[in-house]
Amino acid sequence: MSNPSLLILAGDGIGPEVMAEVRKIIDWFGAKRDLKFDVEEDLVGGSAYDAHGTPLTDETMAKAQAVDAVLLGAVGGPKYDVLDFSVKPERGLLRLRKEMDLYSNLRPAQCFDALADFSSLKKDVVAGLDIMIVRELTSGIYFGEPRGIITENNERVGINTQRYTESEIERVARSAFELAMRRGKKLCSMEKANVMESGILWREVVTEVGKDYPEVELSHMYADAGAMQLCRAPKQFDVIVTDNLFGDLLSDAAAMLTGSLGMLPSASLGAPMANGRPKALYEPVHGSAPDIAGQGKANPCACILSFAMALRYSFDQGAEATRLEQAVEKVLADGVRTADLLNEDGITPASTSQMGDAVIAALEASL
Ligand code: NAD
Ligand code: IPM
Ligand code: MN
Repeated sequence: MSNPSLLILAGDGIGPEVMAEVRKIIDWFGAKRDLKFDVEEDLVGGSAYDAHGTPLTDETMAKAQAVDAVLLGAVGGPKYDVLDFSVKPERGLLRLRKEMDLYSNLRPAQCFDALADFSSLKKDVVAGLDIMIVRELTSGIYFGEPRGIITENNERVGINTQRYTESEIERVARSAFELAMRRGKKLCSMEKANVMESGILWREVVTEVGKDYPEVELSHMYADAGAMQLCRAPKQFDVIVTDNLFGDLLSDAAAMLTGSLGMLPSASLGAPMANGRPKALYEPVHGSAPDIAGQGKANPCACILSFAMALRYSFDQGAEATRLEQAVEKVLADGVRTADLLNEDGITPASTSQMGDAVIAALEASL
Protein backbone atom coordinates (compact mmCIF):
# COMPACT_ATOMS: atom_id res chain seq x y z
CA MET A 1 0.00 0.00 0.00
CA SER A 2 1.29 3.48 -0.78
CA ASN A 3 2.06 5.94 1.98
CA PRO A 4 -0.55 8.53 2.93
CA SER A 5 -0.02 11.79 1.07
CA LEU A 6 0.56 15.26 2.48
CA LEU A 7 0.62 18.56 0.64
CA ILE A 8 2.62 21.22 2.47
CA LEU A 9 1.73 24.83 1.70
CA ALA A 10 4.11 26.79 3.91
CA GLY A 11 2.94 30.20 2.68
CA ASP A 12 4.39 33.53 3.77
CA GLY A 13 6.20 35.25 6.62
CA ILE A 14 6.87 32.84 9.47
CA GLY A 15 4.90 30.10 7.63
CA PRO A 16 8.00 28.54 6.01
CA GLU A 17 9.99 28.96 9.25
CA VAL A 18 7.56 27.03 11.43
CA MET A 19 6.87 24.49 8.68
CA ALA A 20 10.59 23.65 8.48
CA GLU A 21 10.28 22.35 12.05
CA VAL A 22 7.22 20.29 11.12
CA ARG A 23 9.24 18.74 8.27
CA LYS A 24 11.81 17.56 10.83
CA ILE A 25 9.02 15.99 12.86
CA ILE A 26 7.44 14.31 9.84
CA ASP A 27 10.86 12.85 9.02
CA TRP A 28 11.27 11.67 12.61
CA PHE A 29 7.95 9.79 12.53
CA GLY A 30 9.00 8.21 9.21
CA ALA A 31 12.37 7.09 10.54
CA LYS A 32 11.47 6.14 14.12
CA ARG A 33 7.80 5.14 14.08
CA ASP A 34 7.61 3.74 10.56
CA LEU A 35 4.92 6.30 9.82
CA LYS A 36 5.90 7.43 6.36
CA PHE A 37 4.20 10.08 4.28
CA ASP A 38 4.56 11.07 0.66
CA VAL A 39 5.14 14.78 1.00
CA GLU A 40 4.82 17.37 -1.71
CA GLU A 41 5.35 21.11 -1.27
CA ASP A 42 3.74 23.96 -3.14
CA LEU A 43 2.99 27.66 -2.90
CA VAL A 44 0.04 29.54 -1.42
CA GLY A 45 -0.65 33.17 -0.56
CA GLY A 46 1.82 35.93 -1.33
CA SER A 47 4.54 33.49 -2.38
CA ALA A 48 2.18 31.99 -4.97
CA TYR A 49 1.23 35.48 -6.12
CA ASP A 50 4.90 36.38 -6.57
CA ALA A 51 5.50 33.27 -8.68
CA HIS A 52 2.21 32.99 -10.58
CA GLY A 53 0.19 36.20 -10.14
CA THR A 54 -2.46 34.37 -8.12
CA PRO A 55 -2.55 33.33 -4.44
CA LEU A 56 -3.54 29.78 -5.40
CA THR A 57 -3.15 28.19 -8.83
CA ASP A 58 -5.69 25.72 -10.16
CA GLU A 59 -2.93 23.09 -10.17
CA THR A 60 -2.29 23.58 -6.45
CA MET A 61 -6.03 23.52 -5.77
CA ALA A 62 -6.28 20.20 -7.62
CA LYS A 63 -3.37 18.76 -5.61
CA ALA A 64 -5.05 19.85 -2.36
CA GLN A 65 -8.23 18.04 -3.42
CA ALA A 66 -6.30 14.87 -4.17
CA VAL A 67 -4.11 14.40 -1.09
CA ASP A 68 -5.00 12.81 2.24
CA ALA A 69 -4.26 16.03 4.13
CA VAL A 70 -2.95 19.54 3.57
CA LEU A 71 -0.62 21.27 6.04
CA LEU A 72 -0.63 25.05 5.78
CA GLY A 73 1.73 27.54 7.44
CA ALA A 74 0.35 31.06 7.15
CA VAL A 75 -0.43 33.60 4.45
CA GLY A 76 -0.31 37.37 4.15
CA GLY A 77 1.94 40.28 4.83
CA PRO A 78 2.20 44.05 4.42
CA LYS A 79 3.95 43.67 1.06
CA TYR A 80 0.64 42.47 -0.36
CA ASP A 81 -1.60 45.15 1.14
CA VAL A 82 -1.58 47.07 -2.13
CA LEU A 83 -2.89 44.12 -4.18
CA ASP A 84 -6.38 44.01 -5.56
CA PHE A 85 -8.73 42.24 -3.10
CA SER A 86 -9.28 39.33 -5.50
CA VAL A 87 -5.61 38.31 -5.45
CA LYS A 88 -4.71 39.03 -1.84
CA PRO A 89 -2.88 36.14 -0.10
CA GLU A 90 -5.85 35.48 2.20
CA ARG A 91 -8.05 34.72 -0.85
CA GLY A 92 -5.88 31.66 -1.51
CA LEU A 93 -6.59 30.25 1.92
CA LEU A 94 -10.30 31.08 1.69
CA ARG A 95 -10.49 29.34 -1.71
CA LEU A 96 -8.92 26.20 -0.23
CA ARG A 97 -11.41 26.17 2.63
CA LYS A 98 -14.39 26.81 0.35
CA GLU A 99 -13.56 24.44 -2.51
CA MET A 100 -12.48 21.63 -0.18
CA ASP A 101 -15.72 22.35 1.74
CA LEU A 102 -13.92 22.33 5.10
CA TYR A 103 -16.93 23.37 7.11
CA SER A 104 -15.79 22.32 10.58
CA ASN A 105 -12.79 24.13 12.01
CA LEU A 106 -11.56 22.64 15.27
CA ARG A 107 -9.61 25.11 17.36
CA PRO A 108 -8.60 23.58 20.68
CA ALA A 109 -7.34 25.88 23.42
CA GLN A 110 -5.37 23.97 25.98
CA CYS A 111 -3.28 25.58 28.68
CA PHE A 112 -0.15 23.56 29.29
CA ASP A 113 0.74 23.61 33.01
CA ALA A 114 4.15 25.10 32.27
CA LEU A 115 2.46 28.12 30.67
CA ALA A 116 -0.25 28.74 33.27
CA ASP A 117 1.88 31.51 34.77
CA PHE A 118 2.41 33.06 31.42
CA SER A 119 -1.21 33.75 30.45
CA SER A 120 -2.39 37.31 30.84
CA LEU A 121 -5.13 35.85 33.04
CA LYS A 122 -4.68 34.64 36.62
CA LYS A 123 -3.15 31.19 36.89
CA ASP A 124 -6.14 29.56 38.59
CA VAL A 125 -8.45 30.85 35.84
CA VAL A 126 -6.50 29.07 33.07
CA ALA A 127 -4.55 26.18 34.67
CA GLY A 128 -5.81 22.89 33.26
CA LEU A 129 -7.93 24.60 30.61
CA ASP A 130 -8.96 22.28 27.78
CA ILE A 131 -11.69 23.60 25.51
CA MET A 132 -12.52 23.11 21.85
CA ILE A 133 -13.96 25.84 19.66
CA VAL A 134 -15.73 24.53 16.57
CA ARG A 135 -15.88 27.35 14.04
CA GLU A 136 -18.07 27.09 10.94
CA LEU A 137 -15.59 27.80 8.15
CA THR A 138 -17.19 27.86 4.70
CA SER A 139 -20.18 30.14 4.99
CA GLY A 140 -21.58 33.08 6.95
CA ILE A 141 -20.46 36.64 6.41
CA TYR A 142 -17.12 35.52 4.91
CA PHE A 143 -18.86 34.21 1.81
CA GLY A 144 -22.45 35.57 1.78
CA GLU A 145 -23.81 37.50 -1.21
CA PRO A 146 -24.38 40.33 -1.94
CA ARG A 147 -20.95 41.70 -1.11
CA GLY A 148 -18.70 44.43 -2.39
CA ILE A 149 -18.14 48.16 -2.28
CA ILE A 150 -20.73 50.11 -4.25
CA THR A 151 -21.66 53.76 -4.66
CA GLU A 152 -25.07 54.86 -3.45
CA ASN A 153 -26.32 58.42 -3.03
CA ASN A 154 -22.86 59.70 -3.90
CA GLU A 155 -21.06 57.79 -1.21
CA ARG A 156 -19.32 54.44 -0.98
CA VAL A 157 -21.08 51.59 0.77
CA GLY A 158 -19.31 48.43 1.99
CA ILE A 159 -21.51 45.34 1.95
CA ASN A 160 -21.15 41.87 3.41
CA THR A 161 -23.97 39.49 4.07
CA GLN A 162 -24.39 36.99 6.88
CA ARG A 163 -26.18 34.01 5.39
CA TYR A 164 -26.61 30.48 6.72
CA THR A 165 -28.72 27.66 5.35
CA GLU A 166 -30.08 25.15 7.81
CA SER A 167 -28.01 22.35 6.27
CA GLU A 168 -24.85 24.39 6.79
CA ILE A 169 -25.74 24.90 10.44
CA GLU A 170 -26.81 21.30 10.86
CA ARG A 171 -23.56 19.74 9.63
CA VAL A 172 -21.27 21.87 11.76
CA ALA A 173 -23.54 21.39 14.77
CA ARG A 174 -23.41 17.63 14.25
CA SER A 175 -19.60 17.67 14.16
CA ALA A 176 -19.57 19.67 17.41
CA PHE A 177 -21.99 17.27 19.12
CA GLU A 178 -19.89 14.30 17.95
CA LEU A 179 -16.80 15.92 19.49
CA ALA A 180 -18.66 16.71 22.69
CA MET A 181 -19.65 13.04 22.95
CA ARG A 182 -15.96 12.10 22.89
CA ARG A 183 -15.04 14.81 25.42
CA GLY A 184 -16.92 16.24 28.40
CA LYS A 185 -20.43 16.01 26.86
CA LYS A 186 -21.06 19.74 27.14
CA LEU A 187 -21.74 21.98 24.16
CA CYS A 188 -22.29 25.73 24.20
CA SER A 189 -23.59 27.32 21.01
CA MET A 190 -22.83 31.01 20.48
CA GLU A 191 -24.64 33.43 18.16
CA LYS A 192 -26.53 36.69 18.47
CA ALA A 193 -30.12 35.50 18.22
CA ASN A 194 -31.12 38.69 20.01
CA VAL A 195 -30.23 40.83 16.99
CA MET A 196 -29.69 38.54 13.98
CA GLU A 197 -32.17 36.31 12.15
CA SER A 198 -29.31 34.03 11.17
CA GLY A 199 -28.68 33.70 14.91
CA ILE A 200 -32.30 32.72 15.53
CA LEU A 201 -32.06 30.01 12.87
CA TRP A 202 -28.66 28.91 14.23
CA ARG A 203 -30.14 28.44 17.71
CA GLU A 204 -33.19 26.56 16.37
CA VAL A 205 -31.18 24.18 14.20
CA VAL A 206 -28.55 23.46 16.88
CA THR A 207 -31.39 22.69 19.32
CA GLU A 208 -32.99 20.32 16.79
CA VAL A 209 -29.69 18.49 16.15
CA GLY A 210 -29.27 18.25 19.93
CA LYS A 211 -32.31 15.93 20.10
CA ASP A 212 -30.05 13.27 18.52
CA TYR A 213 -27.54 13.73 21.34
CA PRO A 214 -29.53 13.55 24.57
CA GLU A 215 -26.37 12.83 26.57
CA VAL A 216 -24.84 16.17 25.62
CA GLU A 217 -25.74 19.09 27.84
CA LEU A 218 -26.52 21.88 25.36
CA SER A 219 -26.51 25.56 26.29
CA HIS A 220 -26.80 28.77 24.26
CA MET A 221 -25.03 32.06 24.79
CA TYR A 222 -24.97 35.34 22.96
CA ALA A 223 -21.52 35.60 21.41
CA ASP A 224 -20.65 38.87 23.13
CA ALA A 225 -21.47 37.36 26.53
CA GLY A 226 -19.53 34.29 25.42
CA ALA A 227 -16.44 36.43 24.82
CA MET A 228 -16.80 37.83 28.30
CA GLN A 229 -17.26 34.37 29.84
CA LEU A 230 -14.21 33.05 27.95
CA CYS A 231 -12.12 35.66 29.74
CA ARG A 232 -13.91 35.43 33.10
CA ALA A 233 -14.19 31.67 33.59
CA PRO A 234 -13.06 29.73 30.51
CA LYS A 235 -13.06 26.37 32.27
CA GLN A 236 -16.88 26.37 32.35
CA PHE A 237 -16.72 25.37 28.65
CA ASP A 238 -16.05 22.05 27.00
CA VAL A 239 -16.99 22.44 23.31
CA ILE A 240 -18.16 25.73 21.80
CA VAL A 241 -19.83 25.84 18.38
CA THR A 242 -20.16 29.13 16.57
CA ASP A 243 -20.23 30.79 13.17
CA ASN A 244 -17.36 31.80 10.92
CA LEU A 245 -16.79 35.36 12.11
CA PHE A 246 -17.54 34.88 15.82
CA GLY A 247 -15.32 31.78 15.72
CA ASP A 248 -12.46 33.78 14.25
CA LEU A 249 -12.64 36.32 17.06
CA LEU A 250 -13.34 33.92 19.91
CA SER A 251 -10.48 31.62 18.93
CA ASP A 252 -7.93 34.44 18.91
CA ALA A 253 -9.17 35.42 22.37
CA ALA A 254 -8.94 31.79 23.49
CA ALA A 255 -5.35 31.69 22.20
CA MET A 256 -4.31 34.19 24.80
CA LEU A 257 -5.75 31.99 27.55
CA THR A 258 -3.12 29.44 26.56
CA GLY A 259 -0.28 31.93 26.73
CA SER A 260 0.44 32.75 23.09
CA LEU A 261 -1.04 32.72 19.64
CA GLY A 262 2.08 30.71 18.81
CA MET A 263 0.61 27.72 20.69
CA LEU A 264 -2.78 27.25 19.02
CA PRO A 265 -3.27 24.59 16.33
CA SER A 266 -6.32 23.92 14.20
CA ALA A 267 -7.92 21.30 11.99
CA SER A 268 -10.32 22.20 9.19
CA LEU A 269 -12.40 19.19 8.31
CA GLY A 270 -14.94 18.39 5.61
CA ALA A 271 -16.96 15.40 4.57
CA PRO A 272 -15.34 11.93 4.38
CA MET A 273 -13.52 11.12 1.14
CA ALA A 274 -13.80 7.77 -0.67
CA ASN A 275 -11.07 6.35 1.60
CA GLY A 276 -13.09 7.27 4.69
CA ARG A 277 -10.74 10.05 5.78
CA PRO A 278 -12.24 13.51 6.09
CA LYS A 279 -11.11 16.17 3.63
CA ALA A 280 -8.67 18.04 5.83
CA LEU A 281 -6.38 21.01 6.14
CA TYR A 282 -4.29 21.62 9.25
CA GLU A 283 -2.97 25.05 10.11
CA PRO A 284 -1.93 27.10 13.11
CA VAL A 285 -4.44 29.74 14.22
CA HIS A 286 -1.80 32.47 13.98
CA GLY A 287 -0.89 34.42 10.86
CA SER A 288 2.33 35.20 9.06
CA ALA A 289 3.58 37.46 11.90
CA PRO A 290 5.35 40.00 9.66
CA ASP A 291 6.79 41.76 12.72
CA ILE A 292 9.05 38.79 13.53
CA ALA A 293 9.34 37.05 10.14
CA GLY A 294 12.82 36.12 8.97
CA GLN A 295 14.34 36.46 12.43
CA GLY A 296 14.16 32.87 13.67
CA LYS A 297 11.93 34.00 16.55
CA ALA A 298 8.64 32.31 15.66
CA ASN A 299 7.19 29.69 17.95
CA PRO A 300 6.70 26.52 15.86
CA CYS A 301 4.46 24.81 18.46
CA ALA A 302 1.12 25.79 16.89
CA CYS A 303 2.22 24.33 13.57
CA ILE A 304 3.73 21.24 15.21
CA LEU A 305 0.53 20.69 17.22
CA SER A 306 -1.47 21.09 14.00
CA PHE A 307 0.48 18.13 12.62
CA ALA A 308 -0.46 16.24 15.80
CA MET A 309 -4.09 16.96 14.94
CA ALA A 310 -3.44 15.56 11.45
CA LEU A 311 -2.10 12.36 13.01
CA ARG A 312 -5.26 12.10 15.12
CA TYR A 313 -8.03 13.21 12.75
CA SER A 314 -6.71 12.14 9.33
CA PHE A 315 -4.48 9.17 10.03
CA ASP A 316 -6.08 7.48 13.02
CA GLN A 317 -2.81 7.73 14.96
CA GLY A 318 -4.18 9.01 18.25
CA ALA A 319 -1.36 7.47 20.30
CA GLU A 320 1.32 9.07 18.12
CA ALA A 321 -0.55 12.39 18.25
CA THR A 322 -0.48 12.19 22.03
CA ARG A 323 3.23 11.32 21.92
CA LEU A 324 3.88 14.51 19.95
CA GLU A 325 1.67 16.66 22.19
CA GLN A 326 3.43 15.30 25.26
CA ALA A 327 6.80 16.03 23.68
CA VAL A 328 5.77 19.67 23.25
CA GLU A 329 4.50 19.73 26.83
CA LYS A 330 7.81 18.31 28.10
CA VAL A 331 9.84 20.90 26.20
CA LEU A 332 7.79 23.68 27.78
CA ALA A 333 8.08 22.09 31.21
CA ASP A 334 11.86 21.94 30.73
CA GLY A 335 11.80 25.71 30.27
CA VAL A 336 12.64 25.84 26.57
CA ARG A 337 10.80 28.96 25.34
CA THR A 338 10.61 31.01 22.20
CA ALA A 339 10.45 34.77 22.78
CA ASP A 340 6.64 34.91 22.74
CA LEU A 341 6.60 32.64 25.83
CA LEU A 342 8.98 34.73 27.93
CA ASN A 343 8.21 37.80 29.95
CA GLU A 344 11.42 38.13 31.95
CA ASP A 345 14.48 39.94 30.74
CA GLY A 346 17.84 38.24 30.94
CA ILE A 347 16.71 34.86 29.61
CA THR A 348 17.87 34.03 26.10
CA PRO A 349 14.92 32.76 24.12
CA ALA A 350 15.13 29.62 22.04
CA SER A 351 15.08 30.12 18.28
CA THR A 352 12.46 28.50 16.07
CA SER A 353 14.83 25.69 15.12
CA GLN A 354 16.07 25.19 18.68
CA MET A 355 12.46 24.73 19.75
CA GLY A 356 11.91 22.20 16.94
CA ASP A 357 15.10 20.35 17.89
CA ALA A 358 14.00 20.23 21.53
CA VAL A 359 10.70 18.63 20.46
CA ILE A 360 12.64 16.04 18.44
CA ALA A 361 14.82 15.33 21.50
CA ALA A 362 11.69 14.88 23.62
CA LEU A 363 10.25 12.52 21.00
CA GLU A 364 13.48 10.50 21.11
CA ALA A 365 13.23 10.37 24.89
CA SER A 366 9.68 9.03 24.61
CA LEU A 367 10.81 5.83 22.86
P1 NAD B 1 -0.53 37.31 13.35
O1 NAD B 1 -1.12 36.09 13.97
O2 NAD B 1 0.32 37.11 12.17
O3 NAD B 1 0.33 38.09 14.46
C1 NAD B 1 -0.24 38.65 15.65
C2 NAD B 1 0.86 38.79 16.73
O4 NAD B 1 1.17 37.49 17.25
C3 NAD B 1 2.15 39.36 16.19
O5 NAD B 1 2.75 40.19 17.16
C4 NAD B 1 3.03 38.13 15.96
O6 NAD B 1 4.41 38.37 16.06
C5 NAD B 1 2.54 37.19 17.06
N1 NAD B 1 2.66 35.80 16.63
C6 NAD B 1 1.83 35.14 15.78
N2 NAD B 1 2.24 33.90 15.60
C7 NAD B 1 3.36 33.74 16.33
C8 NAD B 1 4.27 32.65 16.53
N3 NAD B 1 4.10 31.45 15.93
N4 NAD B 1 5.33 32.84 17.34
C9 NAD B 1 5.52 34.02 17.96
N5 NAD B 1 4.69 35.09 17.81
C10 NAD B 1 3.63 34.94 16.99
O7 NAD B 1 -1.73 38.29 13.00
P2 NAD B 1 -1.75 39.69 12.23
O8 NAD B 1 -0.51 40.45 12.55
O9 NAD B 1 -3.07 40.26 12.51
O10 NAD B 1 -1.72 39.30 10.70
C11 NAD B 1 -0.55 39.26 9.90
C12 NAD B 1 -0.90 38.68 8.53
O11 NAD B 1 -1.25 37.30 8.68
C13 NAD B 1 -2.10 39.34 7.86
O12 NAD B 1 -1.82 39.42 6.48
C14 NAD B 1 -3.25 38.38 8.12
O13 NAD B 1 -4.25 38.44 7.15
C15 NAD B 1 -2.53 37.07 8.09
N6 NAD B 1 -3.17 35.98 8.83
C16 NAD B 1 -3.10 34.76 8.26
C17 NAD B 1 -3.61 33.67 8.91
C18 NAD B 1 -3.50 32.34 8.27
O14 NAD B 1 -2.76 32.20 7.31
N7 NAD B 1 -4.19 31.34 8.73
C19 NAD B 1 -4.18 33.83 10.17
C20 NAD B 1 -4.23 35.10 10.75
C21 NAD B 1 -3.71 36.18 10.07
C1 IPM C 1 -7.72 32.71 10.54
C2 IPM C 1 -7.40 33.96 9.78
C3 IPM C 1 -8.15 33.94 8.44
C4 IPM C 1 -9.64 34.10 8.74
C5 IPM C 1 -7.73 34.95 7.38
C6 IPM C 1 -6.25 34.99 7.17
C7 IPM C 1 -8.42 34.66 6.08
O1 IPM C 1 -7.64 35.09 10.52
O2 IPM C 1 -7.54 31.61 10.00
O3 IPM C 1 -8.13 32.81 11.70
O4 IPM C 1 -10.13 35.22 8.93
O5 IPM C 1 -10.31 33.08 8.80
MN1 MN D 1 -8.17 34.63 12.61
